[in-house]
Amino acid sequence: MDTEDRKRLAGIEACNWVKDGMSLGLGTGSTVSHTVLEIGRMISEGSISVVGVPTSLATRELALRVGIPLVTLSEVGAIDLVIDGTDEFDPEFSLIKGGGGALTREKIVAQSSKAMIVVADDRKRVDVLGKFHLPVEVLQFEWEATRGLLSALCPGAVKIRGGERPFVTDNGGYILDCDFGETITDPKSLELEILSIAGVVEVGLFCDMCDAVVLAGEGNVETIVKEGGRLS
Ligand code: 5RP
Repeated sequence: MDTEDRKRLAGIEACNWVKDGMSLGLGTGSTVSHTVLEIGRMISEGSISVVGVPTSLATRELALRVGIPLVTLSEVGAIDLVIDGTDEFDPEFSLIKGGGGALTREKIVAQSSKAMIVVADDRKRVDVLGKFHLPVEVLQFEWEATRGLLSALCPGAVKIRGGERPFVTDNGGYILDCDFGETITDPKSLELEILSIAGVVEVGLFCDMCDAVVLAGEGNVETIVKEGGRLS
């Protein structure tokens, strides 16, 4: 089974948690796009009626294309369940997200959700976070100065995504990818430290948010539920 098959398996399996009448946070990325497609299929065959809050313009477009009715957070208040992808998750269910550049909207939706499920293939499981470069969204204004302050915290390089032609997020920000290496043993403290820098919009560390991971490996899919989490 190749990586794309694993992504599809995890993305579709997560739909077992989707119940009729729910408000859903719709994550961003190639794995969770399978979830969005499957939810669209379930709606079109009449087995569920749900509404969605998208975490990016790309997901918004996909959700509308497959017929998922969209609402805003202010219209629904709290979201019943958000399903999203991840770039890494550790044994505490802390995450690095933002490989697709949608981390700020993803975190806004996750923090207003009653539960969060992450869909992933087994390459995303790590003991210590940081092999995947930590994405930080920053304002364009004086971004080099913000990078300087991030570099003081980060043992490796801090690179602007896109290089000469920077990637621009849905919010008009830039992404700085920080090479911490496998050193992030205390993600909560690092999250607070990075957020204290003016110019930082959001950091792709998600702590105490994820309640379960639907993980696809070679020929099988398992759901790992966090002990003491909101889905246990
Ligand atoms: C986007 C994200 C994605 O969920 C994350 O990058 C995983 O993406 P993929 O499923 O394509 O590997 O955080 O900002």
